Amino acid sequence: MTKTVAITGVTGFIGKHIADNLRARGFAVRALTRTPRKAPVDNLTWVRGALEDRDALDELVSGADHVVHCAGQVRGHNEAIFTDCNVTGSLRLMQAARKSGTCKRFLFMSSLAARHPDLSWYAKSKRVAEQQLAAQAGDITLGIFRPTAVYGPGDKEMKPLFDWMLRGVLPRLGAPDAKLSFIHVSDLAQAVGQWLVADQLPTAPSELCDGVSGGYNWTRVQEIGAEVRNGPVRLVGIPLPVLKLLADISVMASRLAGKEPMLTRSKIHELTHRDWSASNQCLSEDINWFPEISLERALREGLF
Ligand SMILES: NC(=O)c1ccc[n+]([C@@H]2O[C@H](COP(=O)([O-])OP(=O)(O)OC[C@H]3O[C@@H](n4cnc5c(N)ncnc54)[C@H](OP(=O)(O)O)[C@@H]3O)[C@@H](O)[C@H]2O)c1
Repeated sequence: MTKTVAITGVTGFIGKHIADNLRARGFAVRALTRTPRKAPVDNLTWVRGALEDRDALDELVSGADHVVHCAGQVRGHNEAIFTDCNVTGSLRLMQAARKSGTCKRFLFMSSLAARHPDLSWYAKSKRVAEQQLAAQAGDITLGIFRPTAVYGPGDKEMKPLFDWMLRGVLPRLGAPDAKLSFIHVSDLAQAVGQWLVADQLPTAPSELCDGVSGGYNWTRVQEIGAEVRNGPVRLVGIPLPVLKLLADISVMASRLAGKEPMLTRSKIHELTHRDWSASNQCLSEDINWFPEISLERALREGLF
């Protein structure tokens, strides 16, 4: 019998790829949307509402076998904005899932940032959400994914960095020897699909990256860029005071535009952290998932 998966965040970058992966696997997808009129999509039913709307969440998860919670607040000028969505909104969804009586698995799209909750408002909100969801899951099997920086078609955050690099300039945020990792969005979506069908599931939060052993540093990214463009790439360190100034400008400009800023002083702590290497060790074997797209391949084949 066709299984139904309720998904949040499908109108965003990662959620869309997850929904596409699950539809291709034959799941019936029910997707939350804050946008009034969404175009029809095969095997997908839109449910109008938001994480703040309990009735909409009840409708979203009613009769669903599983929930994939990918909606999240990734931009904000104060801590409360992150807490309201990422913690309180996630708990509302878990309560709806429990109330439905049909939901067996609930996957929470956290972030590698949750490893260091002290670094930013965003990181803290993800860690607190993980803890509170675990405390409230009851009989539902909770999975926690902590992907590192995600890129691929539809991404707006990492793309400018790669575009600049392929033109010959790579802006460096943080220390030259900082450890970095990446994951292509199609590999992440595939991991979600595999998690839903796996017999054995990891109980601890799972990190996800492209599997490149030891990750990258800025010099390695620079080398890859130079190989792909077949020409030099200049690594340009952005000094911390300049980053802070850019963050202040971004906060002011966002306020004028009535939007939430991505770059804030809080976010800078996270971006300039020295170790964002990650490991798939706890996840790959359990769910039979092995990422296929390295950064080098993605850049060569234009998969971003
Ligand atoms: N991108 C990364 O590198 C990365 C890395 C690790 C983890 N993650 C996590 O992955 C998830 C998706 O990230 P993304 O990059 O795809 O972000 P995104 O493009 O900004 O998408 C965010 C999604 O969440 C929805 N959303 C936000 N607040 C909501 C609310 N109150 N009610 C209902 N829907 C709400 C948005 O809906 P609208 O379209 O209506 O705004 C959108 O669909 C997030 O939880 C993020 O923390 C991302």
